[in-house]
Amino acid sequence: MQELLLAKTHDETRQGEAFAPAQEPVAVNGKRFYIESYGCAMNFADSEVVASILQKEGFGATTDVDTADLILINTCSIREKAEDRVRKRLTEFRQLKRSNPGLVVGVLGCMAERLKASFIEEEKLVDIVVGPDAYRSLPGLIEEANGGQKGVNVLLSREETYADIAPIRLNSNGVTAFVSIMRGCNNMCSFCVVPFTRGRERSRDAASIVQECEALFNEGYREVTLLGQNVDSYHWIDEQKDETVTFARLMELVANISPLLRIRFSTSHPKDITDDVLHIMAKYENICNYIHLPVQSGSTRVLQMMNRTYSREWYLAKVDRIREILPDCGISTDMIAGFCTETEEEHQESLSLMEYCKYDLAYLYFYSERPGTLAARRFKDDVPLDVKKRRLQELVDLYRDHSLISMQKDVGKVFKVLAEGNSKKSEDELYGRADNNKVVVFPKHNFVKGDYVSVKITHCTAGTLLGIPVDTNNTDN
Ligand code: SAM
Ligand code: SF4
Ligand code: F3S
Repeated sequence: MQELLLAKTHDETRQGEAFAPAQEPVAVNGKRFYIESYGCAMNFADSEVVASILQKEGFGATTDVDTADLILINTCSIREKAEDRVRKRLTEFRQLKRSNPGLVVGVLGCMAERLKASFIEEEKLVDIVVGPDAYRSLPGLIEEANGGQKGVNVLLSREETYADIAPIRLNSNGVTAFVSIMRGCNNMCSFCVVPFTRGRERSRDAASIVQECEALFNEGYREVTLLGQNVDSYHWIDEQKDETVTFARLMELVANISPLLRIRFSTSHPKDITDDVLHIMAKYENICNYIHLPVQSGSTRVLQMMNRTYSREWYLAKVDRIREILPDCGISTDMIAGFCTETEEEHQESLSLMEYCKYDLAYLYFYSERPGTLAARRFKDDVPLDVKKRRLQELVDLYRDHSLISMQKDVGKVFKVLAEGNSKKSEDELYGRADNNKVVVFPKHNFVKGDYVSVKITHCTAGTLLGIPVDTNNTDN
């Protein structure tokens, strides 16, 4: 059984992808870096910041690990399995280091932050360990490593947002891009390691976000996903204009760049998403009708232990409110099966909550205790593994029924699809996403990626809508 349900478009499921820019920068200093990323979209976005920092230092990029002078692995600590994958990958790099003693290996990201210097003692091949707020120190640490010194910088910051660094888009399709709008998290959900690995929440200068989105649009990008662990608590004080920029206002600023630029965002904490956000979504056609609203559990008692600060009823009222203001809005969730002390009845409450919400997409996990978190310190991880896995499977089975119903509901409808590239199966087909985040595949005709295409859905599979273009006039370009 899989630990999580792999889904199509959400990047939390991305594990160990090696990326280089579409046009690999030439190595001015004669050296090439290879970067592999794990975990959530924010980690992938950070790898693009790291690529930019390294390019300024004269590094070129490579996707061929055998030709790299510097290997970086940007890691995730969210569940034990995520860390296991990284350790396994590091043992594979050991062989390369043996044949190339000058090779520098660096560990970045959340696992670096969690394990700090002990990483170097534990994994002898690792030369540098750099936490998410310390990427500006990479050039210095690499230089020291070239001189044979090992280096660690895991200082967390209350200010760092990398606002002034223009990310280098790695493995970009040239159409969609991530834009980080904030870092860290103040929420302290008891199961979660993120507040410890990413530090305090801080918002990025609104003007720099709008500038980055404008630049992307001018380069031909047609969709930006605004990223944060809790986007609805975005908060920036523009002292020049004497204005407080909330998340709703930020979305409006980005939406006004062009009606041809689509906006998505992730992740919304149910306690923070406001009517203002929902009304702005309703007002602007280019803000996509899709909300990732993780619930984690259907039981108020478990939610309390998780420190989620809302009850089952409160969450359900929020879902009702979304559907009232945005009737066609896609809603997805994250859920954890088998959290500490969860009873069979409480698990049934998770199933019945799912039944009520009928999610379009769900990311489902069983609980994995993370050292140092509030839950690890306070509660016993007392649900046996086989029970956790059985409960997870029950959630997965129910979700599959709902997702198929949700796909079937869209057959016969017409969606405006932003083409992202050739479909996996055929060069004669394009794939893209509808406003509600569902993947749509359709015949290419004369369309190219970056075009908006009206597609009538004719049939569907469990994960994909299939259709035909109904309007052969491009609405873009
Ligand atoms: N900030 C987002 C939120 O509040 O929903 C996402 C946080 S995390 C990157 C993504 C998901 O991983 C969480 O929503 C949760 O379902 C899951 N997760 C986090 N810690 C976990 C743990 N210890 N065991 C299992 N799943 C976990
Ligand atoms: Fe983790 Fe909760 Fe913060 Fe999400 S909101 S990153 S689950 S602490
Ligand atoms: Fe993301 Fe994993 Fe860190 S989910 S914030 S990379 S622990």
